[in-house]
Amino acid sequence: MIKNLSTIKKDFNTILKEDTAYIKGDLKHLAKYFFKRQDKFIRLAKENKSPFYIFDQKEFDIAINNFAKTFTRYIPRLKIYYAMKSNPHPYLLTRIVKVGHNIDVSSGRELAIAAKLKPRSILFTGPGKTEDELQLALKHTDRVILNIDSFTELSRIGRLAAKHKRKISAGIRIFTPLHGLWSKFGIPLNDLSTFWKEAQKYPYIDLQGIQVHMSWSDNAEPYIKVIKEISKYLMLNFSKTHRASIKFLDLGGGFMPYKTEGIHPWSTKQGAVINAIAKASNKQIDFSDSYYFEKTATLEEYAKSISNAVNTYIAPNLSCDIFVEPGRILSTYAMHILLKVADVKSTKKIITDGGINIIGWEKFEEYYAPVLNLTHPSTTEIPCTIFGSLCTPDDIWGYSCFASKMETDDILLIPYQGAYTYTFRQEFIKSLPNVVKL
Ligand SMILES: Cc1ncc(COP(=O)(O)O)c(C=O)c1O
Repeated sequence: MIKNLSTIKKDFNTILKEDTAYIKGDLKHLAKYFFKRQDKFIRLAKENKSPFYIFDQKEFDIAINNFAKTFTRYIPRLKIYYAMKSNPHPYLLTRIVKVGHNIDVSSGRELAIAAKLKPRSILFTGPGKTEDELQLALKHTDRVILNIDSFTELSRIGRLAAKHKRKISAGIRIFTPLHGLWSKFGIPLNDLSTFWKEAQKYPYIDLQGIQVHMSWSDNAEPYIKVIKEISKYLMLNFSKTHRASIKFLDLGGGFMPYKTEGIHPWSTKQGAVINAIAKASNKQIDFSDSYYFEKTATLEEYAKSISNAVNTYIAPNLSCDIFVEPGRILSTYAMHILLKVADVKSTKKIITDGGINIIGWEKFEEYYAPVLNLTHPSTTEIPCTIFGSLCTPDDIWGYSCFASKMETDDILLIPYQGAYTYTFRQEFIKSLPNVVKL
């Protein structure tokens, strides 16, 4: 059945021994922080029909500020493009524009929404852009930078731009051997020089930069590696004049929020292997901890290391702006979810009035987020499975609750749930809740 079992066996053994990829800790301080503000949330729960999303502008502002301040301190030529795919609610988008940042979009639909808000600049990145989407980009050449995804797209946009006589600013997305499945996007770094020359054939394309994106980067290492590779490539393959035409290097998003949620032991690499072995041998496994934190860099660590790499490898050879496309590191903090206890089936089995269609995926089977009982607050957690009210057992919010007890109608808050939840929401069985401003 398996061709390369011996190599896999070796990997299995390494993973089983690996105990260092995660760190212990808890989120008691987060519970305390939100319990301090509990009156505000309780008032909202009285005024609105549960369940609902809460937009928390104060927390969003803090996240934007922290990110912008820390990154610009280390990288003065930084431009921030908020990745709206992580949460496109108008409250977030208008706030981003109001505080002077830009928007990163990935479809014509997102572009249409962003353009109405008139941010200074919009990056349009994504594979397989349709003719309609490219036409829309051409309507907004005053603010759009099109990150081209392939040679085919170059000729398509080149032809369209010439037809409409509209000059468009552009970048080219590249991937390197580090990118794995993410090599679906862009062209191989090795083709960059050919692409750059090819683009010069299109008078209405103003190619200005290079874009690269890596997802879920726990630390700055992937950014550093890719900066090094791009710089090495440019030194070998681009003349000084060609290098001078590069106006931006766009490093994408992928920055992880710092310790806002944990990962359950069975979802760690080691835990998954142990679980699979236990299942195959009909054994029950009890994990010793309920969650761990992934080793994620702080903002300071990301910014400092990326700045070092930029200063060492990029700045001496080309003078360009650095773009970033942060999504989750900003939107995580912008929204919380409020639910009520609909039924206490036993002390260990709680049913809430909201299903995980609110967040669109079975996130909390894998990840831990604190569930706070605002009606019966406590800084210790009661073990209980908190289900939603959908007709599926995967409808789980968590396996414990910061509560002194659990009763019907109790108000529950799950803080910092703004990223890739509201975006993924779906009308599965239940309708979608409202977004309420705090
Ligand atoms: C091109 C691009 N930029 C930015 C992002 C935002 O990533 P994150 O939310 O991890 O910062 C994504 C997410 O997939 C992306 O594909």
